[in-house]
Amino acid sequence: MAHITLDYNSGGLALKKDSHSTILHPLWVRERVSGPNVFDPISHQRMYEHADLPQDLRITNILNQTDEALELEFSDGQALQLILAETFQEMKWSENLEAPPKPKSWDASLNTLPEYNWSHLDDTNVMKTALEDYFRYGFCIFQNTPTERDSLKQISRRFGYLRETNFGELFNVETKPNPSDLAYTDVALASHTDNPYRNPIPGIQYLHCLKNEVSGGLSTLVDGMAIAEALREENAQQADILEQINVRFRYEGPSAILEHHGPIIERDHEGFIRHIRLSSRLDYVPALDVDTLTHFYAGRRRLHEMSNSRDFQISFPFRPGTLLMMNNYRLLHGRTAFNGAQGHRHLQGCYIDHDGPASLFRMLAKGRNVTSVIRED
Ligand SMILES: [Fe+2]
Repeated sequence: MAHITLDYNSGGLALKKDSHSTILHPLWVRERVSGPNVFDPISHQRMYEHADLPQDLRITNILNQTDEALELEFSDGQALQLILAETFQEMKWSENLEAPPKPKSWDASLNTLPEYNWSHLDDTNVMKTALEDYFRYGFCIFQNTPTERDSLKQISRRFGYLRETNFGELFNVETKPNPSDLAYTDVALASHTDNPYRNPIPGIQYLHCLKNEVSGGLSTLVDGMAIAEALREENAQQADILEQINVRFRYEGPSAILEHHGPIIERDHEGFIRHIRLSSRLDYVPALDVDTLTHFYAGRRRLHEMSNSRDFQISFPFRPGTLLMMNNYRLLHGRTAFNGAQGHRHLQGCYIDHDGPASLFRMLAKGRNVTSVIRED
């Protein structure tokens, strides 16, 4: 049971629950209370501008208190309700069931891959479990997807909205003459993240196998969070520099010249390593002092070594119908070499934003009966 009183100094609320305690600002509370004409029932947007509220607003009375809610009177005469479960979730004093699982770093010892049969995703429980795996590990593999050319457009739309680039809505990864990217040859590809030169960088990448007649060409994955954590344990100074220096990434091709800046390792608002930019052929660090750059180059090299080492890398084959969904901000991907003369190997790829699967997860967590993202007309 929470202990809640008025805080006469601030005009807000003094909250105590278990080992937690805080003072809530009256405006913070007001922007979360419900009542008539407060939130639009469909869009859940507030029906007022925050500038409409008096800056010196106070909570003047706790009119009623139950385990579930408080009825509060404000200095502008309004009586409104604060739902306590929502408040505690927002304060992180209780579990937020809508929040996807926290990322869990993994290395080459990950022996059970998150793998699902595509046809089973019609079951909302399976879809939710697959999404939990995606958020925990940063990737998910689906088998037995349709293998018609361009079917990836429909497949990826199940999770989000296609991000078109200068490579098209879908890009084809197959050997071809005069390639515009090394991906379109049969050489091995070192672990990398895609397109750090774009603004914004594509969030989620799909790779979908339509045909594979060659041996080799295994898909490789590395958890960027794991190698960044390992670097910090080995050499915190190098890890700091890779988090601090903004690197320029540049792509110049036949149809586009693209540039974007960012650190090699970036954390999110909760301190988790959120984003790795490792694309060893496209990065240009600023001309900083020699000492700083010596640490930068050593750290970048160490990350590159770890991202291509057997300690961190997993690999698996692409069969026709295999679909890989991966977080391009967290995971690095590559492939082993193959002999293009053995036959045809054809993958199609595309990007979607992070929003789609996150929204789908929240909808499922709220018990909505959905197994794909929904379009609003
Ligand atoms: Fe790639």
